[in-house]
Amino acid sequence: MQVYMDNAATSQRKPETVLKAMEQFFKEINCNPGRGGYELSLEAGRRVIEARAALAGFFSAEDPGQVVFTPNITVALNIALKGLLTQGDHVLITGLEHNAVVRPLTALSKERGVTYTVLPADSRGIVDPQAVIEAVGPNTRMIVATHASNVCGTIVPLEEMGKLAKEYGLYFVIDSAQTAGCLPLDFEGLNASVLAFTGHKHLLGPMGIGGFCVKKEVAERMQPLYEGGTGSISDREEQPGFLPDKFESGTLNTLGIVGLGAAVEYLRSIGVDKVRAKEMELTGKLLNGLRELPGITIYGPQDPRLQTGTVALNMHGIDNAELCYVLDQKFGIMTRPGLHCAPLAHKTLGTFPEGVLRLSLGHFTTEEDIDYVLDCLRKVCQALTA
Ligand SMILES: Cc1ncc(COP(=O)(O)O)c(C=O)c1O
Repeated sequence: MQVYMDNAATSQRKPETVLKAMEQFFKEINCNPGRGGYELSLEAGRRVIEARAALAGFFSAEDPGQVVFTPNITVALNIALKGLLTQGDHVLITGLEHNAVVRPLTALSKERGVTYTVLPADSRGIVDPQAVIEAVGPNTRMIVATHASNVCGTIVPLEEMGKLAKEYGLYFVIDSAQTAGCLPLDFEGLNASVLAFTGHKHLLGPMGIGGFCVKKEVAERMQPLYEGGTGSISDREEQPGFLPDKFESGTLNTLGIVGLGAAVEYLRSIGVDKVRAKEMELTGKLLNGLRELPGITIYGPQDPRLQTGTVALNMHGIDNAELCYVLDQKFGIMTRPGLHCAPLAHKTLGTFPEGVLRLSLGHFTTEEDIDYVLDCLRKVCQALTA
């Protein structure tokens, strides 16, 4: 038996409709959108427009032009941070941020004297949005918040943060890597300046495609990270200033965009609320089962209402890297140990530098999978205490 418990890294299985849409595009179209005057190039362009519209609908962005495609969320976040922050700006971040946020900010602190404050969180990673009020200063320009921790699943109160960002006139940048596709996200309703997403996790698309939704007035002030060919206003040497071309230089990952468009349509047909309800049920089952095992420490909220299907743990008497190896080699269970590219989150949780073993559920996880994982963990616990 094989059980995939690494959905926080990427969702391994994809809906049939995604595979079919990609195969059809690759076999029958596969021409460059916006770069040819013939029917197949125009059709490729139409597929991109359709996917853009599907994503705009999915995230409740008013205009599909506000959806910009990038290779992944790391690039999207780099564009947002490096395109908006200037000399001496101050940023507020949560203690759960991934290196996709922390490393660009660290680079910006060296290049542009940008400073940042980590908003305090409790040992479960829960952030009190009121901390924004205490940390905001005259140079504060931006709040950057992950919607949920990729280590222990803790959900961040975006709504309250978005309100405060609006009140204080700050940019609000959301990292939805761990929640887009499994928690509802309303770009306009959250007062977000930029909502960054990655296609290959809970959105159930392929790897190599992500992007962001951006407010029009924010896009005007945001500098592009790259310039180059866009297939538009080719007589000009300067980068177009309009969306989405301003931020989409070079040939797009059209195959990935087609796959992501189909994935988003699939999720809309089911309803993210239903996806979330199932995830909560299975997360509850996993947490209840883990609590009954001897020698297991669980990190994070330990409450499916306050977290995603990502659960962090350590087992007494075995290193988490070794536990990962045993689960894989002996039982066919795929997990991720260590620091998960999020040392800051581990510092918040008190699990730095040893890290944790991460079990992350996904859309295709079943009750049987959870039973099997619990059973195997029980066997490892028993072997350690025998
Ligand atoms: C919270 C968070 N942000 C950013 C990323 C980076 O995602 P990608 O590798 O798709 O750019 C991840 C992925 O691990 C993540 O979990």
